[in-house]
Amino acid sequence: MPQAQAQGLPAATTGDITPEPVREGIDLIVNGERFKHTGDPLMPLLWYLRDVLRLTGTKVGDAQGKDGYDLVLVNGKAVPAITWPMAKLVDARVTTVEGLARADGGLHPLQQAFIDEDAIGCGYCTAGWLIAGIDLLTRKPKASDEDIDKLPNRCRCGCQTRVRRAIKRAAGAQA
Ligand code: FES
Repeated sequence: MPQAQAQGLPAATTGDITPEPVREGIDLIVNGERFKHTGDPLMPLLWYLRDVLRLTGTKVGDAQGKDGYDLVLVNGKAVPAITWPMAKLVDARVTTVEGLARADGGLHPLQQAFIDEDAIGCGYCTAGWLIAGIDLLTRKPKASDEDIDKLPNRCRCGCQTRVRRAIKRAAGAQA
């Protein structure tokens, strides 16, 4: 007698179950390392980074990704990781805050500028600001206060003014 029946459980049915197609996986590069995602293609990138790769520097914000906490670079452009399903990331190059430092451990100039300007309070918003700032300075190396204020990011600890100074300081260092 099958074990399930012996235990009084209903027998498993097999005839009417459609198996999921075999997933070939999604290849992507995160912080210079190759990964293959074989789970749900609709999983948001944010969950993949935080729950699968354990890269928790990228923070959780609102569900629409409008507050900048979850920004990461995808192929060099800042995007909210909560709104990007893994299916959109085939062969993509993703950079999170953990991947900003140089290989020798030296900080990215914008990270250093945040330290120099004391632009970090609790730190919850910092990763998002760094990614947004790098994206901005790539597009606009001489970013103005207005450009910085147009970023979606906000700091609940009141560091906004110092963040502005840090981004402009990094712009100056770049120049
Ligand atoms: S440093 Fe705390 S929210 Fe910005």
